[in-house]
Amino acid sequence: MPFSDEQVRRIMQMSPLPPLPPDPTNRHADDPRAARLGQALFFDERLSADGAVSCATCHDPERGFTDGKQLALGQQVGNRHTPTLWNVAHHRWLTWDGRADSLWMQALDPIEDPREMGTTRGKLARVIADDPGLRAAYEAAFGPLNGAALRARPDDVRPARGREATTGHTAPEAVRAWAALDEDQRAAIDQVFVHAGKAMAAYQRLLVRGDAPFDRFVEGLRENDGEKVESLSPSAQRGLAMFIGKANCVLCHSGPNFSDGEFHNNALPTLHGGEAKDPGRFDGARVVAASPFNAAGPHSDDPEGPAALRVRQLRQSSEAWGEFRTPSLRNLAQRAPFMHQGQFGDLEGVIEFYSELEGATGRGHHQEQVLVPLRLSVAEKEDLRAFLAALEGEQADPGLLGPPSQSALGR
Ligand code: HEC
Ligand code: HEC
Repeated sequence: MPFSDEQVRRIMQMSPLPPLPPDPTNRHADDPRAARLGQALFFDERLSADGAVSCATCHDPERGFTDGKQLALGQQVGNRHTPTLWNVAHHRWLTWDGRADSLWMQALDPIEDPREMGTTRGKLARVIADDPGLRAAYEAAFGPLNGAALRARPDDVRPARGREATTGHTAPEAVRAWAALDEDQRAAIDQVFVHAGKAMAAYQRLLVRGDAPFDRFVEGLRENDGEKVESLSPSAQRGLAMFIGKANCVLCHSGPNFSDGEFHNNALPTLHGGEAKDPGRFDGARVVAASPFNAAGPHSDDPEGPAALRVRQLRQSSEAWGEFRTPSLRNLAQRAPFMHQGQFGDLEGVIEFYSELEGATGRGHHQEQVLVPLRLSVAEKEDLRAFLAALEGEQADPGLLGPPSQSALGR
């Protein structure tokens, strides 16, 4: 065995992928009826301004739930790269800057983001109320729709977003229409909106892929089974030794999902050259703390629980400027390009960066002090790459990779 006892101890902490952490802020999180509705909504292009963009447009199951683009393209080009959704329910904070603290909160944002789907919660409630299949699925999971409060109003209504709130005179039509609704109507729409988020969260909780060659290798170490240990090639085993040793990737890519769940500034070169302008976690912390949809808010099913405590304790700190959440390294194969702006087209590019830190930005301010050029040899880079390739999980249930059948929806 080429690994020391200390190394074996560290390796054991990286596998297997444990059961999903529960999400008490969403009491429907593990309800298959909610997941079925969520799956239908995830693939439904009607939930966009132009009727052509669904969640799956960017999170394409054929591409590891990403889009192959550097920056996401919805109604407009966005400012960040689309992350994978495999194993997403293992993350404590969602998105690169952690501006959501639950999957259901996260799902609400793209619907109204003008760059992503650009529609409104009013339109979403209308689509669900008017489509017999969706409506039946909704009522199976959440009980009767408050139809009276949902009727007799314009379709496109939403509250102001971000800076719109302070520039009232230029507020879009939909925002003015929202202001004109009565309390009951707004509450009814918000309820459908939140339930839709909780349904999509329930679906995304099913997108789990573990059981990689690396996991079989660790099983082999545990059971002293030489055949299973051979699931990792000698090159991948040397890569693993570097991952937890000399290259110290495990400092941030730790635990069985290969993410510490924390935020770091890797001082990456920017996509368009020049200094980094994206405030990352600095903004994300402020946004999640202020949102009515966070774990401590009125729509949470556990407003006094641990997640609520976590978001109440958040403080905006200048240290967090330019920090992004450590991504999982499981299932990398289909999700190039990499990093928050898709800066690197392949894993070779990523490894080359960690090796040389060439083009690193903002050296001397905010960047991670722990990143030093590793100066890897050609063979070492190849070993690391071989190890990362061994984190590719078993294929998932194909029934999750498209919209549910109409009969499953109860139509
Ligand atoms: C226009 C492309 C686009 C669409 C449409 C889109 N997303 Fe995303 N998604 C992104 C991008 C880009 C990010 C990263 C956002 C950021 O960090 O600012 C993201 C982040 C996420 C995350 C967080 C993943 C993580 O690792 O933290 C989840 C979950 C998610 N999206 C689910 C959804 C759902 C559900 C929908 C539909 C309601 C949706 N997305 C629609 C592009 C898109
Ligand atoms: C200081 C913490 C830290 C260390 C050490 C670290 N990473 Fe990362 N890694 C991150 C963060 C944070 C990101 C996302 C950065 C961004 O987009 O701004 C990332 C991104 C990546 C990605 C891209 C994943 C994706 O979905 O885009 C890969 C691959 C990766 N790291 C591999 C490694 C390897 C291999 C090592 C060791 C050589 C390593 N990392 C060391 C924090 C770290």
